[in-house]
Amino acid sequence: MAYIEVRGLGKHYQMGEMTISANKEVSFDIEKGELVVVLGSSGAGKSTLLNILGGMDYCDEGEVWIDGVNIASLTDRERTAYRRADVGFVFQFYNLVANLTAKENVELATELVSNGMDVLEILKKVGLSHRMNNFPAQLSGGEQQRVAIARAVAKRPKMLLCDEPTGALDYQTGKQVLQILQDMSRKEGATVIIVTHNAALAAIADRIIRMRDATVQSVELQEHPADILTLEY
Ligand SMILES: Nc1ncnc2c1ncn2[C@@H]1O[C@H](COP(=O)(O)OP(=O)(O)O)[C@@H](O)[C@H]1O
Ligand SMILES: [Mg+2]
Repeated sequence: MAYIEVRGLGKHYQMGEMTISANKEVSFDIEKGELVVVLGSSGAGKSTLLNILGGMDYCDEGEVWIDGVNIASLTDRERTAYRRADVGFVFQFYNLVANLTAKENVELATELVSNGMDVLEILKKVGLSHRMNNFPAQLSGGEQQRVAIARAVAKRPKMLLCDEPTGALDYQTGKQVLQILQDMSRKEGATVIIVTHNAALAAIADRIIRMRDATVQSVELQEHPADILTLEY
């Protein structure tokens, strides 16, 4: 069994007379430690899929196996426990707590689990130990996103889910953030899933999942993903 196995996942919204399918018959596998890029234009169903994988939302049909557990069959309470312990999220607009320092933002996450990482060590890993006592408003966009990544990985989650993580960043800063995410997968063995509409980012993935109109169009394995240093986008 693959580390992540999604089978026939469906998510539908009733809008008056109309049914809108955000995810339809979605199936794929992901192996532990992979860097995965989920690619698709706006409205393709990427965020819906990511939220279901992370236990932030539930699906209407299908199975979502994560490390041997079908999270589609969990109760609300069990899903919350899963999300807290096993999932790290990185969002486009960072979502840091404004009145907490960088260090305190990361501590928020480690306090949720018993085996969290050392907060200073993880801030060092993202190159921010010298800014740990700064508040989010005192940090650049790229620095805030690095704090958000530190917060997400500090719990040692089973997977790191990133929704357009470079969407609000300039080119160079975006590359730094991608480098950290690729390092998390290659050096720390984290399973990292990046959702984006930017086709150029597919080059860095071990696995590319292409979505369109709520469905998976293709899944492609890439034996020699590009290094971020050589990436042009
Ligand atoms: N809460 C909701 N109610 C109704 N429609 C929704 C809701 N959330 C998402 N959708 C629809 O589902 C589709 C997929 O959305 P989304 O997963 O956000 O796509 P993406 O992240 O790829 O841009 C879109 O057509 C969107 O309008
Ligand atoms: Mg989205």
